[in-house]
Amino acid sequence: MVVLVIGDVVGDPGMDVLCRRLRQLKKQVGADLTVVNGENATPVGKGITPQLAEEIFNAGADVITLGNHTYGNRQICDYLEEQEYILRPLNYPIQQPGHGYTLLECCGKTVCVCNLQGRVGLDYIPSDPFAAADWLVEEIRADVYLVDFHAEATSEKQAMGYHLNGRAAAVWGTHTHVPTADERVLSKGTGYITDIGMTGGVDSVIGVRWEQSLHMFRGELTERFKPSDRDCRVQGAVFEINEQGKCVAVRRVEIA
Ligand SMILES: [Fe+2]
Ligand SMILES: [Fe+2]
Repeated sequence: MVVLVIGDVVGDPGMDVLCRRLRQLKKQVGADLTVVNGENATPVGKGITPQLAEEIFNAGADVITLGNHTYGNRQICDYLEEQEYILRPLNYPIQQPGHGYTLLECCGKTVCVCNLQGRVGLDYIPSDPFAAADWLVEEIRADVYLVDFHAEATSEKQAMGYHLNGRAAAVWGTHTHVPTADERVLSKGTGYITDIGMTGGVDSVIGVRWEQSLHMFRGELTERFKPSDRDCRVQGAVFEINEQGKCVAVRRVEIA
């Protein structure tokens, strides 16, 4: 089974390059299952709307994951309840709308896709993601577990990789928008990478026009953040998973 995972789609430039290029990338890698992080899909890069989610599904995503910007656009709340293949972090408070995992059939296997959020340098609202991961693999029956760990700290993401080693087929990081070169298969068959990158204008500061970001850091008053449309790419990773539900290879992928 070949699983393609795609980094955070940022704004209109991200939506545009995703819709133009995802099918080609899927074909190139022979993807059986595609997971796209859509937490920054709106024009201002915060959240997602039902219409944008439909566009991401139409572009070729089987599952959409989110993160700390899940509720950036509140129009999404009812949709999160109704549509089972778009996920908000599992470790969010129970009263917040949406699902944290989903099950689907792929290559004769039951696959569980889950979204978790880290707590280091992020909101304090989510519960312990490691306990949530334990709950998932102990309580939800599946042959293959795939986890998008949306987190700021490299250390917390690596710790999750080891926590799920041998229990999940793949653990990948999102949120930081810059691909890391540490893709590997851990000792018990879990494919891992700290960050799979982003989808949109990579000539930018994590997807935002660099001039604007620089102004902000220098204490100048800035306008609403505008996503960059310079050097647009779709970035992600591919996990090859064998019959036993173990990862045998992981590599980074990118298409312009
Ligand atoms: Fe993001
Ligand atoms: Fe994020």
